[in-house]
Amino acid sequence: MDNTIKIKVIIGSTRQGRFSEKPAQWIFEELKQQKGVEVELLDLRDYPMPFFDESMPPSTAGGKYSNEIVKKWAKKINDGDAFIIVTPEYNHGYPAVFKNALDVLYPEWNRKAVGFVSYGSALGARSVEQLRQVAVELQMAPIRNAIHIPVDIFMAVMMGKGPTGPEMFKPIREGVMGDRVQIFFDDLLWWAKALQAARTQSV
Ligand SMILES: Cc1cc2nc3c(=O)[nH]c(=O)nc-3n(C[C@H](O)[C@H](O)[C@H](O)COP(=O)(O)O)c2cc1C
Repeated sequence: MDNTIKIKVIIGSTRQGRFSEKPAQWIFEELKQQKGVEVELLDLRDYPMPFFDESMPPSTAGGKYSNEIVKKWAKKINDGDAFIIVTPEYNHGYPAVFKNALDVLYPEWNRKAVGFVSYGSALGARSVEQLRQVAVELQMAPIRNAIHIPVDIFMAVMMGKGPTGPEMFKPIREGVMGDRVQIFFDDLLWWAKALQAARTQSV
């Protein structure tokens, strides 16, 4: 049996000039260094789905979708064992475009681990808390640890100051509480492996 854990990193915002692609690209490269993982970066800009308008909720549609882009999205999500969602905070929540990307599917998300990378004036924490509630309804396992990007790193980019490359995220690995990135990966991989085994054995 192939025990490789397939992890999809999802860029959670699509607006012009978005910050999200920077932490997404960074965490994607960091994750690739972990053993036993196959990582893919998913950009919602490549999946311009309509707002959900099917007659049946995806929880009862048995994985059948009429829209071609949704079908493509479903295939990608179905292929994942775990997800890292990179999200900003929009009015204390998360972007509507990402809510739609969650709502259009159901069984493809089920019984899989999910972790969050967030940013904003309150580190995106409010957005992540909302996402955790939604993840449970999608029968996902949202992990405890998250990467909340320090506001100084995020604001430096917004104000055009400081580094713009992946080196900006270096302090996150060197905090007083240790390497937060590795703690996050260890947590995600533990749940991803446990759930992969459980799904395979149909416990
Ligand atoms: C519609 C909207 C609402 C926002 N609301 C918040 C907010 O509630 N809290 C916050 O910290 N930042 C808020 N911001 C600022 C975002 O954190 C900032 O624009 C960030 O760069 C958005 O992520 P993105 O660049 O990946 O789209 C908001 C931005 C937008 C566009």
